[in-house]
Amino acid sequence: MRKFNPVILLISCFLIACSSSDEKTNQSNEPKIDFLESGKEISAVAQTELLKNVKNALEKEGPVYAIEFCNIHAESIADSISKNFDVQIQRLSLKNRNPQNAPTAKEDKLLLNDYLEKLNEGRAITDTLIRLNDIASYYRPIIISAETCLKCHGQPGEEINTETMIALNKLYPDDRATNYRMGELRGMWKITFSGKSN
Ligand code: HEC
Repeated sequence: MRKFNPVILLISCFLIACSSSDEKTNQSNEPKIDFLESGKEISAVAQTELLKNVKNALEKEGPVYAIEFCNIHAESIADSISKNFDVQIQRLSLKNRNPQNAPTAKEDKLLLNDYLEKLNEGRAITDTLIRLNDIASYYRPIIISAETCLKCHGQPGEEINTETMIALNKLYPDDRATNYRMGELRGMWKITFSGKSN
């Protein structure tokens, strides 16, 4: 009887596996990106980087300085992470501070409203992947989960002191990002992997 050869068996299994997956998806040799995993990683990096900077600024000079710091640097911090990962990074909110952070796409507004509704009903909310016209977008809800957030997003006159309010009014005359409470939805991260959907 012929000897059983495990290497040949392995290779043929591999070939069968390859050809069947090619048949199913009929796609190029581009490596697949796990958008959910990548989105998780990129939004975590962005969140950590922003928080670290706000914390440093707060400790160094207090909230007024930290607001000016965010006003100048929030976008450029997100931009440099965007370039590193070759994606677009946004923070979107229905009650936004920076006018550029208002959602414009229909699916973004729908998702924010869906997150809000679920949270109000006490249901869990989690990250979401949406694919539209060959573009994959990853979303991750942002919750007010630290007391620090309330120094700039809480109740004016209570958590937000007068000095801070004056600075906010000056830099953000259309600010809608106050009166938040712990546990509320502040907004969401959106990571767009344009042109890479597979
Ligand atoms: C020192 C004040 C300060 C603190 C503390 C602070 N923020 Fe903000 N936040 C800002 C400013 C200023 C902006 C607008 C930044 C810009 O111009 O892009 C902002 C914007 C945001 C946005 C983008 C949407 C929007 O409204 O424009 C989110 C989301 C957000 N903050 C969440 C948080 C969370 C969550 C915390 C707590 C972990 C927090 N912030 C703590 C000042 C602060």
